[in-house]
Amino acid sequence: MRNANEANLTQAVLQKLEGAKDARFRHIMASVITHLHAVIRETELTEQEWLQAIQFLTSTGKKCDHRRQEFILLSDTLGVSMLVDAINHRKPGGATETTVLGPFYVSGAQDLGMWADIGADVPGEPAYVWGRVLDTEGKPIAGAVLDVWQTDGEGFYDVQRPGSAEKYARGKFTTGADGRYGFKTVKPVSYPVPTDGPVGKMLLGMGRHPYRPAHVHVIVTAPGHERVATHLFVEGDDYLDSDAVFGVKHSLVVEFKVQPAGPAPDGKRSDTPFCTAEYDFRLVRS
Ligand code: BEZ
Ligand code: FE
Repeated sequence: MRNANEANLTQAVLQKLEGAKDARFRHIMASVITHLHAVIRETELTEQEWLQAIQFLTSTGKKCDHRRQEFILLSDTLGVSMLVDAINHRKPGGATETTVLGPFYVSGAQDLGMWADIGADVPGEPAYVWGRVLDTEGKPIAGAVLDVWQTDGEGFYDVQRPGSAEKYARGKFTTGADGRYGFKTVKPVSYPVPTDGPVGKMLLGMGRHPYRPAHVHVIVTAPGHERVATHLFVEGDDYLDSDAVFGVKHSLVVEFKVQPAGPAPDGKRSDTPFCTAEYDFRLVRS
């Protein structure tokens, strides 16, 4: 190709895809090229701005290591993660909705029994979370596994506590024949996504705050059913309508009711006031 110009360049690059053997790859690349060129045309991007974009992507890559994934944070804060999630997890009405996984999941959490305390010695208001795992017809699912993780009451995941290898606020719970699960924890609080990298600067430049509303992460798996990676959000949180990663769904907002000291849901007595939150997960057959 010679004499590439504003008018013919996009078509020229698209033609170069003719040799691509994988049809899906060809389709995706054609779309990427078309839209990227359209952005540059629409904004009449300057050379300085393009260089800035390249520097931004370079520093995003440099910020990534085995503990930090700045590109996922970029995808989350631009709504891309939730769009991919929405397209890939279309659920029938009544089924528990999915939301973003986030970077703080750690596989291999300990298997714990009913009412185990994942918030022992963790700062925060005591809370009891319980409910059932059901199918979409309302039948209890036995042997469903809930893999749970959350922040403490100061807004930090265990993996964010510098210098501490101790795990907290994580655990796996398996439902019995009645589909019931229950655990003791602390009430999660809202927290900022990491802001010490290029994505933090981008949010600042956009005039956006970095906060996520308080939530408990749960991945529910059960044989013969679709896996659900989701959150339980705390009703009343200030950031429910402005989640930095667009993850909130109305159906996932749960009341954490404040209860006085006294009998607790695990059959014991609590000497301090505590919260209770009840939620039934509804899984689709696979
Ligand atoms: C989280 O909920 O853990 C999370 C999700 C997206 C970005 C950062 C954190
Ligand atoms: Fe989270």
